[in-house]
Parts: sequence; C-alpha cells; structure tokens
Amino acid sequence: MDKAHFLGISVLLVVVLVGPFLALYCFHKRWDLRQAKQARMAGKSMQAQDFAVKVARYFMPSIQIEKHRFHGLTAKSEPMDIRFESLGLELPNGTTVLSGVTGEFKAGTCCAIMGPSGAGKTTFMNALCGKAFYGKPTGKVFINEREASIADFRPCVGFVPQDDIVHECLTVGEQIQSAALLRGEPWTTSKRAKRITEDVLQILQINHIRNTVVGSVEHRGISGGQRKRVNIGLELAADPTVLFLDEPTSGLDSTSSLTIIESLKKLGELGMTSIMVIHQPRYKLFTLFDEVLLLGKGGRTVYQGPSQGAVPYFQRLGFEIPATENPADWLMDLISGEVRSKRFPQVGTHPADWLFETWEQNKAQVGSYFSIPGNLWTEQDDRTVLANLVEAEWHQIDVDESGFLSLDELTRLIRQCTGAEPKKNIVQQLLVAMLEVAGRDPDRDGVSREDFIGYLCSMQVAASRADILQLQDTSSSSESGSDVETIVMEATCCTPTGLVREARGFGSHLFVLSHRQLVLWWRKNSERALFLAVVAFAAVLLASMDKYICPTPLWMPDPYLNLHTALALMQTVYCLGLFGDDKQVFWRESASGVSVLAFFISRVVLNTVDLVMQTFVFVALYFMMLQPHVHFGRFFLPFLLVSFVAAGAGYFISSILPVQHGPFVASLVAFVSCGLMGHPMRVIQMMDGGMLEAVMDVISIARWSVGMSFLLIVEDQGLPPIDSIQGQQRLELEVMIPVYKDRGMWQGHGYWNSGILWLLGMAVVLHSAAFLGLKFTSRTKQI
Ligand SMILES: Nc1ncnc2c1ncn2[C@@H]1O[C@H](COP(=O)(O)OP(=O)(O)OP(=O)(O)O)[C@@H](O)[C@H]1O
Ligand SMILES: [Mg+2]
Repeated sequence: MDKAHFLGISVLLVVVLVGPFLALYCFHKRWDLRQAKQARMAGKSMQAQDFAVKVARYFMPSIQIEKHRFHGLTAKSEPMDIRFESLGLELPNGTTVLSGVTGEFKAGTCCAIMGPSGAGKTTFMNALCGKAFYGKPTGKVFINEREASIADFRPCVGFVPQDDIVHECLTVGEQIQSAALLRGEPWTTSKRAKRITEDVLQILQINHIRNTVVGSVEHRGISGGQRKRVNIGLELAADPTVLFLDEPTSGLDSTSSLTIIESLKKLGELGMTSIMVIHQPRYKLFTLFDEVLLLGKGGRTVYQGPSQGAVPYFQRLGFEIPATENPADWLMDLISGEVRSKRFPQVGTHPADWLFETWEQNKAQVGSYFSIPGNLWTEQDDRTVLANLVEAEWHQIDVDESGFLSLDELTRLIRQCTGAEPKKNIVQQLLVAMLEVAGRDPDRDGVSREDFIGYLCSMQVAASRADILQLQDTSSSSESGSDVETIVMEATCCTPTGLVREARGFGSHLFVLSHRQLVLWWRKNSERALFLAVVAFAAVLLASMDKYICPTPLWMPDPYLNLHTALALMQTVYCLGLFGDDKQVFWRESASGVSVLAFFISRVVLNTVDLVMQTFVFVALYFMMLQPHVHFGRFFLPFLLVSFVAAGAGYFISSILPVQHGPFVASLVAFVSCGLMGHPMRVIQMMDGGMLEAVMDVISIARWSVGMSFLLIVEDQGLPPIDSIQGQQRLELEVMIPVYKDRGMWQGHGYWNSGILWLLGMAVVLHSAAFLGLKFTSRTKQI
C-alpha cells in the first residue's frame, strides 16, 4: 500500500468517526435550544394567564375560573356513548373469567371499574375494547346505539396500560409531542402538537420535568409517579374521544391521584369519556366518578350506576357501613364477601352469587336510591356579574379614554390588581392572548372593552376559541368576541373531529419517527462509542494474530473466514437491540395505529449508519496493519455485505424471539452461517451440485464473502511463485482456486458479482422477514 493510499484511509477513518458525531452534535444542540425555548414560552404564557386570573378575581373574587384551559385538546364534535350487553370472556381452557356484564358509559363522563384483584377488571376493559385475544369474547357493544366494535374507532380511543410503557431515552416533552404528532388527526400541525403537549403537561402537572429524560431503573430520570403520568400523557396526546386507563393512580399518593382524576374529569367538558380501573380510591376521589361498575369475583356485575348511589344501594340491602370506614374500602370488603348483611344473613355462604343475582333483580331501580342537588348559580350568572363590574370600572382602566386598553394601561391594571410589577414581555404576551381569543390581529396596539371582558370571561371555559380557530388555520375570522359561549359552540361544531377519524399516513409517521430516532440515536452515543471500541479491538487483535502471532499470508482464505465470522457475530448481536430493547413500546404504538413499516424503516436506516461506521473501523484498522496491495474499496465491499446480512439476521431474530433468547440464537446463527458453513474445506466438500450445495448457497454468508475476499487478493495482488508455496498451503490453493473461480458462479455472473447478488439477496430477504416478523407478532401483543 503506498503512502497516499494509507493517508487517504487514515483521513477517511477520522472523518467517519468524527463527521457523524459533529453533525449530530449540531442537530442535537439546535434541538435542545428549541426545547428550552418552548419551555420558556410555556412559562411566559402561564405567568400571563396567572396575571389574567388575578385581574378577574380583583373584579369578582368569587368567580369560578378553570384550572386548565385547553389550547390544543379540542372539544369532540361527536361524543361516544358506549353500551354493552352480556359481555363475557371464556379462556381456551373453558374457564369463564368474565360473564354477563351489562351497562353503559355515557359520553363525557368519568367512570370507574372496581373490584377485588383477579375479578376481571382488566379483562373487562380488554373485552370491551376488542383486545382480549387470549379468550373467546361474548356479548354485544353498542356505540351511540349502533352495534359496533370499539376497535373500529381506534384513532379516537386511547388505552393507558397497567404497566408504564414509555421511551426511556426521550424527555417527557419529546415523547408527548411525538405521540401527538403520530396519533393526532392528519391535519395536526407541529404547532398544534406543541399546544397539545402544553395541555397535557399542564393537566398532568409535569411541566417542570418536560426537559428531563425519563430514564430507567439503572439510570433514574423521573420518579415512578411522574412516569405514571407520562404513561397517561402518551394517550392524552392523541386527543382521544374515549380513554381507557388501567389503574392510572396505583403507586401515586392520594393527592396526586385526586389531581389526575380531577384533570381527567375536566377533559369530560371537551366530550372525552374516561373509563378506568381503580384501586382503593379515597372517598372524595370515589365520588368524583360519574359512574362506577363494581365487578365481583368471576367477573360479574354487582353494581353499575352513579358513584353516589353505590353506598345507598348496598345499605338498602342491609349492609351497614361503620362511621369511620372509607366507603370505597367498605365496598371492596363487601364485594369480597367480608361484610354481612343484617337483612339477609344467609348471604354469607355465597356472597358473590347473591350480590350478582340481587343486582340483576334491582338494577332497574338504581336511579331512585339517591338524588343530586341541582346547581343554583350558573357560570352564565358569573359572566354577567363580571361583565357588569368591569363595565362600571372601565373609565378607570382606559385612562386615556381611547376606547382601547393599551400595553401601559394593562401594565398599570396588573400592578393595581396584583401589587406586583409585571415584566413588559409578559404583559405583551397577555395582550396578544386577549387579541387572539377575540380573533383580532395580534399586532394591534390595544384591546377593546368587549374583547377584554370576553377574555376574562373565557377563562371560565375549558377550551378557548382562539386556540381552536388557530388549529384550523383560519386567522382571518371576523366574528365579534363578546359572547364566549356562542363562540365556543361554533368553534366546537366546525372542529373536524368525529368518530371516524382518519389516522395519519405512512409519510408523516416516517417523518416523525425518523426525527425521534435521530434524537434517540444521539442519546446512545456512549453505547455506540463502547461498541466501536470493541470492534476496533477485535480488528487489531485479528490483525496481530495474522501478522505476528500466527503469520498467515493474505492470499489464503483463512484470515477472511476469521474476519467475516467475527464481524458477523458482532453485528448480529449488535442489531438484536434495535427491535428487542423496547418491544413493549413498539407493541403499544403499533396497537394505537402507528405504521409498522415507518417504524421499521426509521430504525433500520439510522442503524445502517452505525453498521457502516463499525464495518469501516474494523476493516480500515485491519487493512492499515496488514497493508494488502489491493484497492481499499474493493477490499471493504465483502465486509460491508457481511454486515448487512448479519444485521438482517439480528433484526429477524429480535423481531420473532423473546429478548432473553436473542444473543444465544444470534451467536449460533452467525457461527453456523460463517464459521461452520463458510470454511473453505467444507465449502469444497459440500459442492456436490445438488441439494447440499443449494442449502449452503442460501444460508451461508461466508461461502460467498470469503471467496470474494480471497479471489480479490489472488487476482489483484497476485500469488507468489507457485514453487515457493509449499506443503499444505499449496495443496489447499490448488484445490480452492478452481473451486471458487469456476463453481462459485451464479448464472455466469462471475464469482465477484455472484457474491454481491447473493449477499444482497440474503440481506433483503432477512430484512423483509424481520419486518414481517414485527408486523405479525405485534398483532397478538396489543397493549
Ligand atoms: N392473558 C391471559 N390469559 C389467560 N388468563 C388470563 C389472562 N389475563 C387474565 N387472565 C385471567 O383472568 C382473570 C382476571 O384477570 P384480570 O387481569 O382481568 O384481573 P383484574 O381484576 O384486572 O386483577 P388486578 O386487580 O389484580 O389487576 C384472572 O383469573 C386471570 O388469571
Ligand atoms: Mg388488572
């Protein structure tokens, strides 16, 4: 190898090692800055809203103001009433784990499913959602009074699994935003996804950790309770019409649990129904639920109706609740058969059956067991009073009597109402928000009295008109902004959501997933550096063996067999992690409609960069130490092909086998395909022109790659004079050269081209098989 060639490869080696990292560093830095800016903007908008709340309370201290105002999550244009009749599930072994569950979940309500452990709560939710693949479901489900399956409305349905399945290497904000982009309606712009992310972060009270990486057991990032909220946030980000949650509050303290359920209930105002399995709620939380379904042992209904009706219902059956007992706990004891009825003492023998049968007889009368007092003072009354109070004070607010509230006047008003000195940019933010809510040009210098009153009143409603209008990108709206109620209704009616919501297409999934993968790729730099070091070590070790310890000439096939086997082994094992490490996340995403092909392509493409980099480091180091007289590019090609095939094998294994079996099977595959079936002597023996040779051609990587490397040296560098080669080496050469040269051809393409075609073919087949493996195994693993 001449000096220039050597220098060229060294420079390339440095470029390959440093270039991608430098490029990714710049990308990541930009990404970080954008995230930080987003957090700052969110902080500013929250401060502005705080001031607005204080101003409204200054005029009317008793006004009820919403804790959360939604900017991205929308009111549902078509809510979903769910009714189910005789829902049941029988396992393949004949056991009935759920039977005869009948009831209804009204749109926009917050419903709880309770019962002892093993009663069948998760099974009920799975059966209702059409996800109980492990048994034979029975019964009927009606959506808005039409018989249907909830699975048919998948884009509108969110399912929060019992286990927290989240992306451990992404920040809280990143994963919620990517979920919003992946699962939102096709018209979801990145602007809207950001607004949804803000809503979700705010409602789940995880805004302060938005830029924290979630982490895992080994590398702790956020707490268990926060992780649970992220788990819910991933589904909320899809802006679902119905949200199923399996134990969303387990592991949370009672205050946090209450906050989450209150938030979910708040979402009911947008028409979202929340149906959740819940354990041990405190009574205040229990009464927040509009409906409860109590399941007894064997998955049978013992009560379904308003939460406040549950205790009176059982009291009428003669069960007495001790004064100091939490009614929710008492209900659980009762369902489990721990409480005796005074009226029906015989119940003690078979409580579950009795409660079930009694419910069947009494369910029609459940509404008469309690009554809820009506609301005397309405939000509309609040608005009228506030509007009158502001009108009366207007001459003091609009000091220059221009008819508009300017930036200075607003600053003065805030100072007067809060006693604090507001920053100019926060006041500006508030002014813009007021103009946006009124549908005016945000560059205007001031807000009119109607718009100011409209904004203060709008804080009473959960979704703001301006935000909804912005989603539709209709900035040139001309309606007046005074009657907030009418406006919200109008906006709601024309929001293009419905039960038949289109899922996003392959292209947008691919874009979002590729972007996300790029971020993940960068976060795995230390892992990547470690693997590159291992690859470099392997190359130096093998080169030292061939050069110093057991000198072997490069015109023999043996060094290539070792090199290709080592490379294939490393790459197969490395690629196992691509689909094996976070399979549950994949199952969750594919169950929610994310394109499997987009997921596959986004991951494989970036991983291919890793493969090329590792192969290059491996080959370049070996090449520089041994310095064969051939072109580096031609020397490199067989190795690259080996990497592609080995990677395909790794993907395929990880897509169909459980993670724990991956390394064992991958090592075996690499050993058989390279070390065993690629050994030149075995290749010669197996070349019988029949079945054995065909099998070897199809499954052996090294059968092609070793021959390519070996013949390249023989033809380009040349052999030493044949007489100088003695003994075993000469014998082997005389047998091998004609065999590789003449018999290793495929349809007259020559050995080199045949090798390229076969190896490329193997790589394509294995990659396709991996994709199919992912696609079909995910079908039965619907999380
Ligand atoms: N995939 C499954 N295959 C076979 N049986 C199952 C499966 N899932 C649940 N079961 C059985 O169904 C019954 C009800 O289980 P389920 O998980 O619905 O209970 P649960 O009420 O949600 O309990 P927990 O409160 O402990 O989560 C159990 O007896 C369980 O063994
Ligand atoms: Mg469960």
